[in-house]
Amino acid sequence: MTAVARTRADLASARGQWAASGDSVAVVMTMGALHAGHAELIRRAREHDDRVIVTDFLNPLQFAPGEDLDKYPRTFTADLELCRTEGVDLLFAPGPSEVYPVGDPVVRVAAGPIGDVLEGESRPGHFDGVLTVVGKLLNLTTPHRAYFGQKDAQQLWLISQMVRDLDVGVEIVEVPTVRDPDGLALSSRNIYLVDADRMQALALHAALELGVSAASGGSTAAVESTRAHLAESGVKVDYVSLVDPQSFDLMQGSGPAILVVAAHVGSTRLIDNVRLHVSAGKRG
Ligand code: PAJ
Repeated sequence: MTAVARTRADLASARGQWAASGDSVAVVMTMGALHAGHAELIRRAREHDDRVIVTDFLNPLQFAPGEDLDKYPRTFTADLELCRTEGVDLLFAPGPSEVYPVGDPVVRVAAGPIGDVLEGESRPGHFDGVLTVVGKLLNLTTPHRAYFGQKDAQQLWLISQMVRDLDVGVEIVEVPTVRDPDGLALSSRNIYLVDADRMQALALHAALELGVSAASGGSTAAVESTRAHLAESGVKVDYVSLVDPQSFDLMQGSGPAILVVAAHVGSTRLIDNVRLHVSAGKRG
């Protein structure tokens, strides 16, 4: 049975009952439009924790003017159904005035330098908005563990960093990216893709796979082969980069890395990434 809480008071009363029983509590934060990627996060939480809260909140603070806030898919009935099927205990689905009762917050979490590169460079202020709402939702749900997807690698890194830097008492659990059988990473935004776009969107995963193969020749080879495949496929590349998983700084040497891409397919902006090992190549 999935209970629905629309207010912080209802959330607090459900959360209070579990505190008394000593149950371990997990949170899976989402913006709704749930898909099998979100379901995987819920399953991982279900396996490990006694109680699972899903938050469903389309956070205006992380969208810049002109982005897709107004057209972002809203599928609450189907979301609730998925939560029921997956055994979620509580779906917290507040409106903006419940989360931001006095309007936009004046004091916000600053993402710092890694918030200004890659996704942050293309979407100024985005990560301050993400971290601010994640901080608020952690305070409201007070979970033992919070589950996030590797699909949003930079977001995951910044949330983990925030938890360390601000001594937030929660364990962050990373969940690998869920893909369609043809490789396309699941995303709520895939709904925007018409058939021709969807075909073209496969280039992101294919390009990353080529990058992984080319990484035996070094970091430059990995980035160049990824970029070349994206260009050949006709998608409009925003960035292709190799980053250090520890620092999220650009990586030029060898070792473990994350290859991250963002590209426009038609009018839809998609991101994807893979974890890989880069060998010491001719040019690093
Ligand atoms: P949203 O895009 O709804 O994603 C919610 C969570 O699901 C994130 O942790 C995201 O990384 C994960 N996720 C999305 N697609 C996935 C996939 N294909 N495989 C595995 N995990 C996937 O990310 C957000 O919402 C928001 O920024 C949020 C953190 C909720 C703050 O508003």
